[in-house]
Amino acid sequence: MNDRAELDAARYRKISIEGGRLNVPDHAIVPYIEGDGVGPEIWEATSMVLRTAVRCAYNGERSVRFVEVLAGLKAQIQCGNPLPAETLAAFREYVVGIKGPLETPVGGGIRSLNVAIRQALDLYACVRPVKYRPGVPSPLRYPERVDVVIFRENTEDVYAGIEYPAGSGMVDDLRELIGPAIAGDSAVGLKIMSREASKRLVRKAIQYALDNGRRSVTLVHKGNIMKHTEGAFRNWGYEVARDEFPGRVVEEGDSKEGHGRANEGTIVIKDRIADNMMQQLLLHPEEYDVIATPNLNGDYISDLVAAEVGGLGIAPGANVGTGCAVFEATHGTAPDLAGKGRANPCSLILSGVMMLEHLGWKEAASLLEKALEHVIGGGVLTDDLAGGRGVSTWEFAQALAGAVADAGAGW
Ligand code: NAI
Repeated sequence: MNDRAELDAARYRKISIEGGRLNVPDHAIVPYIEGDGVGPEIWEATSMVLRTAVRCAYNGERSVRFVEVLAGLKAQIQCGNPLPAETLAAFREYVVGIKGPLETPVGGGIRSLNVAIRQALDLYACVRPVKYRPGVPSPLRYPERVDVVIFRENTEDVYAGIEYPAGSGMVDDLRELIGPAIAGDSAVGLKIMSREASKRLVRKAIQYALDNGRRSVTLVHKGNIMKHTEGAFRNWGYEVARDEFPGRVVEEGDSKEGHGRANEGTIVIKDRIADNMMQQLLLHPEEYDVIATPNLNGDYISDLVAAEVGGLGIAPGANVGTGCAVFEATHGTAPDLAGKGRANPCSLILSGVMMLEHLGWKEAASLLEKALEHVIGGGVLTDDLAGGRGVSTWEFAQALAGAVADAGAGW
């Protein structure tokens, strides 16, 4: 962010948090990470479309200035570090950011940059809304029944990064402590699940459900097997509902309608075992609404549900904490598509829509969302959704920006 001082001095201002509330200036600065692989292509498309939506919604009275911060391969080349401290500092300071996908080599060596960003900024909730959009090919017979918002715990579980390779001294120590359940040639990873982190995630999911008129929150866990971790997540979740939302959250057994809303202004809370939930989301998606779940379950479930409504190319996401929020494409760097200009930019664009909603710029968010449905409904699709015969990333973005600009005239 070399031109930061210049930006701050000009009409663009920082977004800040005051008294726990987001304070958004009319002309806001948002740092972005371009990302690896298809990142630069989808970011170019996304930034153009987001700026167009804001300009058209507010006739220039509001605008956003995206300022690049480095991470991934670009940062490695320019700074010798894939995640410079300056990048994390910028997200903390500017409160809201957006990012493309970052590559993580499999196996030893570099830890996932995405996980590192989430942990460093304490972005404890990964929020992924997934719903069907007419015109998008789906493997389901009734894809319109899918409309869920997944709240995935983002900082703990087996993703905490506490792992020891086979043959290491730490594994020997653990074997001595625990006994022969750890075989001599084992690698060991620890599953961490705390009361505080579990509760704040479920609290956020319940509050979201209440604020947005949703019907239910489902706690998804594998507590039948992992009683003290996943089972505790379930119990802590119910505790939050009972202790912190009395009269507003009804337990499933006490609800007359089961998966339906108990009464106006209240929601139902229920729980499902993770493996059962996989088939439930395929067979009866209409019975599920907001989902709160630990990290690993959430990772699996997010991709499963995304596939039901068109795949990773179209599923948006946000990582939200108390201090800041980073919006990101849910897919990876798609190395098979990188540099070809054929990737679907919708995941990052829809993450941008979530960001606009987060800023309270609902007119721009709604304009872009409607334009997207109009364009996709009109058959303008990228290769992933058009059996390899789609438009390019940039052509899609242009069609979308055109639809945004034409919206005033009606479609
Ligand atoms: P991936 O999501 O990059 O690709 C999986 C499949 O989905 C590929 O066939 C790809 O072509 C397709 N796909 C992904 N994005 C698409 C798009 N926008 N348009 C059309 N098709 C798309 O997952 P993969 O291959 O497992 O991971 C590649 C790299 O990305 C790895 O280094 C991984 O660690 C990283 N990754 C990063 C994430 C992030 O930054 N949040 C999330 C997931 C993976």
